[in-house]
Amino acid sequence: MVLNRPCESQGNMNNSGFKVILCCILLQGESSHGNPAQEVGIAEQCNGYCFSVVKPFLDHCAQLKEAADTNNKLRDKIYTLDGTINNLQSQLLNSGTETKNLGEKIKEKDEIIREKVEQIKEKVEQIRDKDTQITDLREQVKMMSGVLAEKNDQLSKMNQTAESSSGWTVIQKRFDGSVEFNRNWGDYRDGFGDQRGEFFIGLKKLHLMTAAEPQELYIQLRDVNGTYRHAKYNNFIVGSEEEGFVLKSLGEYSGNAGDSLREHERAKFATEDRDCPNKCVHSFHGPWWFNGSNCGISSLNGKYFKEGIADESNGISWGHWNVFDYKLSLTFVKITIRPRSPQT
Ligand SMILES: *[C@@H]1O[C@H](CO)[C@@H](O)[C@H](O)[C@H]1NC(C)=O
Ligand SMILES: *[C@@H]1O[C@H](CO)[C@@H](O)[C@H](O)[C@H]1NC(C)=O
Ligand SMILES: *[C@@H]1O[C@H](CO)[C@@H](O)[C@H](O)[C@H]1NC(C)=O
Repeated sequence: MVLNRPCESQGNMNNSGFKVILCCILLQGESSHGNPAQEVGIAEQCNGYCFSVVKPFLDHCAQLKEAADTNNKLRDKIYTLDGTINNLQSQLLNSGTETKNLGEKIKEKDEIIREKVEQIKEKVEQIRDKDTQITDLREQVKMMSGVLAEKNDQLSKMNQTAESSSGWTVIQKRFDGSVEFNRNWGDYRDGFGDQRGEFFIGLKKLHLMTAAEPQELYIQLRDVNGTYRHAKYNNFIVGSEEEGFVLKSLGEYSGNAGDSLREHERAKFATEDRDCPNKCVHSFHGPWWFNGSNCGISSLNGKYFKEGIADESNGISWGHWNVFDYKLSLTFVKITIRPRSPQT
């Protein structure tokens, strides 16, 4: 139909079949258009008249062919555009896939972040646990410290009783001058100081203990240079307060310090407020069993001199230690007693 219409308008109806065939032949010879040699060939074949009839038709056909070519080109272009569209569509699809991929990746990252947050939470929980454990441990350490302090206390008590369980009870101790020993009657009767430091047990106790059973007396002494000596008596008895806490008996002496308590046997105890007539406590600067006539030759409750040298006879003295030089003042005294065993 497309081909028919322009051909019809140029000639009569009888020629139509021929025209169509011609057109088709011409159109099939793609390279024929604009070829003068071929036109001349046709003119020769048609002889003048033929050519004058055919020529406009041929021209028209050429136009038709051109239109068809254009059409073809447009179609090609459409194809190309189709291709481009397809490309773009597939690109769009690809980018869609990429977007989807990115979405997936973001989801993955989210998952990882969630996991990390979970892990951090766990760590925080663990740290909290550790904190609790540390607090618990602190509590335990505190408790253990308490237990340790208690054990130490018990040990210290056991230490003290160890001395008495070995038989010996400390009744007087001096080693640093931290306790004043020039005290009145009441203090000496009841005792003073602390068993862990310097102290005196008290005359009342001594009377009760020595009255209950025969006691040994052990006196340990040391001078400022670290020399130790001792004096031991095997029958130590102290009278009651009514008897003036008299040194009733000493028994036999043994030891290496000398028998410097013998002259004090049967003497009453004396303090500043209950001094003997010759004021021995005053001159010796400490209570003791002083001999009523000459005071005696020992005084273990005298003034404490760290350097070991007394002003006069006012220090801690033991006559036999340094050939009755009362300037010598001992720096350590420990007096203990224990029940006398049947053999001694
Ligand atoms: C127990 O006695 C010993 C020796 O006298 C002494 O070294 C130790 O420190 C004492 N222990 C306590 C807990 O008092
Ligand atoms: C202690 O030693 C010093 C130096 O040897 C001496 O001069 C002093 O007399 C000594 N003291 C006693 C109490 O023995
Ligand atoms: C005191 O000392 C003298 C002479 O040393 C002694 O004869 C006497 O027995 C001692 N005792 C008393 C309590 O006087």
